Amino acid sequence: MSRIAIIGTGYVGLTTGAYLSHLGHEVVCADVMPDKVAMLNRGEIPIYEAGLDELVRAGLDGGRLSFVLGAANAVEGAEFVFLCVQTPQGEDGSADLTYIQDAAAEIAPVLEAESVVINKSTVPVGSTRVVERALGRSDVFVVSNPEFLREGSAVHDCLHPDRIVIGSDDSAAAARVAGLFDQLQAPLIVTDPASAETIKYASNAFLATKISFVNAIANVCEAVGADVREVVLGMGYDKRIGFEFLKPGPGWGGSCFPKDSRALVRIAEDAGYDFGLLKGVITVNTEQYERVATKIEQAAGGSLGGVTVAVWGLTFKARTNDLRDSPALEVIGRLRQRGANAIKAYDPTVTGDIDGVEVCADAYAACEGATVLAVLTEWDDFRWLDFDKVKGLMAVPNVVDARNLLDPAALRRRGFFYVGVGR
Ligand code: UGA
Repeated sequence: MSRIAIIGTGYVGLTTGAYLSHLGHEVVCADVMPDKVAMLNRGEIPIYEAGLDELVRAGLDGGRLSFVLGAANAVEGAEFVFLCVQTPQGEDGSADLTYIQDAAAEIAPVLEAESVVINKSTVPVGSTRVVERALGRSDVFVVSNPEFLREGSAVHDCLHPDRIVIGSDDSAAAARVAGLFDQLQAPLIVTDPASAETIKYASNAFLATKISFVNAIANVCEAVGADVREVVLGMGYDKRIGFEFLKPGPGWGGSCFPKDSRALVRIAEDAGYDFGLLKGVITVNTEQYERVATKIEQAAGGSLGGVTVAVWGLTFKARTNDLRDSPALEVIGRLRQRGANAIKAYDPTVTGDIDGVEVCADAYAACEGATVLAVLTEWDDFRWLDFDKVKGLMAVPNVVDARNLLDPAALRRRGFFYVGVGR
C-alpha cells in the first residue's frame, strides 16, 4: 500500500482521496480553505454525492484518510501526489492553469525524491510539461491520469471505471501509478502524456456531441411528427451507437462539458485546426436553451409578460446539488429576458437565494398561480407527485417537460396541456 497526497478537495480530489483510502492506501488530502479542511476532518461532506460520506468516514475512522491545510503539508513522505485543483475557463475559452502552476511551485521544494506527481485535473494538451517545468525537479516524475467520473455517480465510477488512462514517457513511473489501481478491474491504457490529455477532452467532447446530436434529432422529430424516444430506441440497439448519452433535454451543462468543449475548440485553434464540428455542437446546445425558453413562452400563449413560471429542477442534472453552468439556469435567464414576471422554483437539493428566482420549499408551492410548469432537471421524485393537486394550484395547467420525464397521457387525461422534447 502506498502513501498518497491529494492536492485539492473538489469533486475529483475528494472522491479520489476517499476511494484510494478505501483501496487501502494511506491518503492525506490538502486544501487551501481552513473551514473546509476542518469540516472534512469531522467527516462532513460539502457536496451531495451518493456513498461519498460513508467512504470518507470509513477512511477517517480507519486512520487511512486525513485532511490538512496547504499542499506542502500533505506531500511529506508521499510516493504519489495527485494534482486535483480546478482549471477554470480563462477569458478566451482556454483553461486557466494558474492553480495547477501555483500548487506545483508550492510542493516542489518538499517533494520526495523519486516521487510521482499525477495530473488529474483536466488540463490542456502539453500541461504535463508545464507541471514538469513548474516543479523543476529532475528526480520527480510527472504523469497524466485523467479522471472520467460523473457527478452523482462519482464513487461508483471510480470503483468501476470503464478504463484507466496513464500518460507518461517513463514506463516505470507509469507502472508504479498503474499499481495503485491494481484492485480495479478495468482496461489499462498506457500512452504518452499528450495522448492521455487529449483522451480526456475528446471523450467529453464526444459525449457532448452525442447529446447535441440527439437534441438536433429531437428538433427534426418535432418537425416531421416522429417520436425521438422511439428513434433512440431503434438507434441504440445498434452496438456501434448504444443508448448512453442519447437523452434529449434542455441542453448539456455542468462544470465540465461547457468548459472542456470550448477549451478543445481553443486547443485546436492554437494548433492551427478549425474544429468546426465541435463549434456546431456548442451552437446546437445554446440553441437548445433558446428552444426550451420558446416552448415555455408559447405554452404561456406567446408572451411571458406578467406570467409566473413554475420550475422543477435547478441543478445541471439529477442526483447532484451542483448549479454550475446548469441548463435550468440558462433557460430561466432567457425567460426573465423575455419578460417573465416571476420564476418560482423547487429543487430537492437547492435552498437559499438565486438571483431572479423564488426558491420554494416544495414542488407544490412552486406551482401556485403559475401559467406554465417547466421541468428542467430529471429528478425522479417529480414523477410521483399528486398532479390533481398541481393542477388545482396552477393558474393554467400547462406543462413543458424539457426532460421527457413525466407521462404525457396521464397528464393529458387530467386536463393538462403537455409539451415534451422531440415527441
Ligand atoms: C462529465 C462526463 O460524463 C464525465 O465522464 C467526466 O469525468 C466529467 O464530465 C468531467 O469531465 O469531470 P458530469 O459533468 O458529471 O460528467 O455530467 P454528465 O452526466 O456527463 O452530464 C452532463 C450534462 O449532459 C448534464 O447537463 C446532463 O443533463 C446532460 N445529458 C447527459 C443530457 O442532456 N442527455 C444525456 O443523455 C446525458
